[in-house]
Amino acid sequence: MKKIIIAIDGYSSCGKSTLARSLAQHFNYAFIDSGAMYRACTLYFLEHQVNLQLESDIENALENIHITFNRIDGVNTTFLNGKNVEGEIRGIAVSNKVSEVAAISTVRRSMVKIQRKAGLDKGVVMDGRDIGTVVFPDAELKIFLTANFGERVKRRVLQLQKQGKSISQNEIEQNLKHRDHIDSTRKDSPLKQAHDAVLIDNTNLRENEQLAMAIALIEERIKNIG
Ligand code: CDP
Repeated sequence: MKKIIIAIDGYSSCGKSTLARSLAQHFNYAFIDSGAMYRACTLYFLEHQVNLQLESDIENALENIHITFNRIDGVNTTFLNGKNVEGEIRGIAVSNKVSEVAAISTVRRSMVKIQRKAGLDKGVVMDGRDIGTVVFPDAELKIFLTANFGERVKRRVLQLQKQGKSISQNEIEQNLKHRDHIDSTRKDSPLKQAHDAVLIDNTNLRENEQLAMAIALIEERIKNIG
């Protein structure tokens, strides 16, 4: 069967990674969580006290950052320079800084280069903020996910509870608002729906309903491109 690129974009905690992961599994595609890449960069910047005002510091840091993904117990896991950082990159310290780091063009150029390489052979589901607009503007299928703010907060609270992290609901609300604002107003690659993306509001959709809708869309696209 012909392989395509599936780009999934949307605001924080609207279920992008959940959908992308399930689609990748269903079609036996690679799954790339581009947000995890910006989170891993941010962790490195924090650990090495990289000065975000100094372009040369940022460039040096980027040269020393190697991000890989591996499956551990069936879970897609992020590695930074060979170390499993999946837990750390989801913590509040990284969450509070990541949008500032992701707004830096030098950082974005470096990440986009890696992301495009991952799509060379197609058969990829990638989720993020600029996948359908910048990384893969020619992706055969683009999905833009939304959900109302309260629902997104609820999902993030549950997700962090499952990971054993105790972060207050208020802190999560502030973090999502802060990131939504920076991500959608930055100059370089702001979060926006691509003109040819399919919009899915999943506020009242179950995971399996959303998955079935996306599978149907993909099957149709694959059929149409023959
Ligand atoms: O998990 P959540 O949906 O909250 O966010 P994420 O996908 O892990 O992304 C973390 C942050 O990385 C976002 O808030 C953006 O600032 C940045 N990001 C980006 O700028 N471009 C992407 N393609 C993916 C993430």
